Amino acid sequence: MRKLIDKLSNAHTLTAEEYRSLLLCEDAVTNSYLQEKAQQTTITRFGRNVFIRGLIEISNRCRNNCLYCGIRKSNTMVSRYALSRETILACCREGYALGFRTFVLQGGEDLSQTDDWVEETVRSIRREFPDCAITLSLGEKTKEAYQRFFDVGANRYLLRHETFNETHYRVLHPSEMSRNHRLQCLEWLKEIGYQTGTGIMVGSPGQTIDHLVEDLLFIERFRPEMIGIGPFIPHADTPFANEPAGSIDMTLKLLSIFRLMHPSALIPSTTALASLSPDGREQGILAGANVVMPNLSPSSVREKYSLYNNKAAFGSEAAEGLKELEKQLERIGYTISYLRGDYNYV
Ligand code: 5AD
Repeated sequence: MRKLIDKLSNAHTLTAEEYRSLLLCEDAVTNSYLQEKAQQTTITRFGRNVFIRGLIEISNRCRNNCLYCGIRKSNTMVSRYALSRETILACCREGYALGFRTFVLQGGEDLSQTDDWVEETVRSIRREFPDCAITLSLGEKTKEAYQRFFDVGANRYLLRHETFNETHYRVLHPSEMSRNHRLQCLEWLKEIGYQTGTGIMVGSPGQTIDHLVEDLLFIERFRPEMIGIGPFIPHADTPFANEPAGSIDMTLKLLSIFRLMHPSALIPSTTALASLSPDGREQGILAGANVVMPNLSPSSVREKYSLYNNKAAFGSEAAEGLKELEKQLERIGYTISYLRGDYNYV
């Protein structure tokens, strides 16, 4: 098993069978070897620095009905909101003063925030913050829309594929949605020139080890600049309310594998990880993550953007909690980097 880990570390690729046996391996010594290798690889590329991104949750309205997601269209318990352009700009100003140089605009697929509106919003942020990176995470759009957002200054786009396996995709999504269309969107984003992020939920209902192997092979081929990976966490007002949460250990293991597969990738230690365990975020960093995304949304809307229950959004998860985050990272020997942190192939 050590040989496999060394192979992944040196050649950045494994066969499906090899990935499978690595995922199935429960030997503690092997798993900590994998984690150490991933941590070393991260430190060699980035030092003990963690990039920060200010996350602005711009709308919790969504036209989709993904079975796992708390803001799915048919959840009538949600109090819906959409931020105005001025509010978003105010969040950016606050973030800029705190030291953020990347703003991530994330939201449901809200048709009231039209392509024109998004374009104008990106343009305004670009005008006021020429030195900042703008990341969008607004779901599936037309190729033309992606192009327009890029042309006015968006640099990065996050769109998790959630699961590569088509049958499994259909377990998680309503029939109007399609895995192929999601992959098509990812191809467009890359073609246009975005630093593109994709990723998965770990332990979502119906997910098998073989599905995860397909995800690994897809991410190996696709070479995303960013990889988002977090455990599935049930939300009480969704059809998956009674499903168990995903495993932290499996999430960390996949994170380490992704680090060895793509040493230069930007990999966040996700909010879902921090929400499941008090030291989840630190564990993610120690497994090879190099990004955290504190919440910059107005505090009045934070609990409305509830993708899953008990989502961490305050304390060190909040942009105002940077000092606390700094201390948490210090305790494990890391520092916040206030650089923009674009993807750089080394
Ligand atoms: N548990 C964990 N992650 C979730 N997401 C959505 N719903 C859940 C949930 N119940 C993730 C999806 C999406 C990202 C924004 O949040 O992977 O891409």
